[in-house]
Amino acid sequence: MSHADDHVGTRRDFLYYATAGAGAVAAGAAGWTLVNQMNPSADVQALSSIQVDVSGVELGTQLTVKWLGKPVFIRRRTPDEIEAARAVGLGELIDQGAENENKPGEAATDENRALDETGEWLVMIGVCTHLGCVPIGDGAGDFGGWFCPCHGSHYDTAGRIRKGPAPRNLPVPIAEFVNETTIQLG
Ligand code: FES
Repeated sequence: MSHADDHVGTRRDFLYYATAGAGAVAAGAAGWTLVNQMNPSADVQALSSIQVDVSGVELGTQLTVKWLGKPVFIRRRTPDEIEAARAVGLGELIDQGAENENKPGEAATDENRALDETGEWLVMIGVCTHLGCVPIGDGAGDFGGWFCPCHGSHYDTAGRIRKGPAPRNLPVPIAEFVNETTIQLG
């Protein structure tokens, strides 16, 4: 088998694991452990772009995948989560920048952070902007989004910092849907 074949096989394995992760639906610290154990190889870590099958992600749940050595949260938000995020005025935010690599320099409206127009999908690097812990998801914290227990940072349902020592919103990486059920990171 050539090196190239080897590479493709490894990538397919990773996609399989990502799908299995969707079934397990673990969030935050637990999800991180899960992904860490499933991490197939250093080769995959080095890929600057990966595709994630999100067909198994139910409404109101989150899939955590490892990409470039970091956890990435892929959340399929409920209408309530979207509505809560869109009801927040910019003036209420600690960090008013979208922190979205797909929309540099834009304001931190929910529309500027969500992956798709409906707002159902939100993709973020799962690393607290304070000192780098992995926040807990599934409606955690005072704002129903994510909570970092290390020093008490609360993020809302759009992943925006609302309370605590973290200075920035959770970063949104380069991401897009390449078909109806696949999100490409990078
Ligand atoms: S690392 Fe998250 S609050 Fe300090």
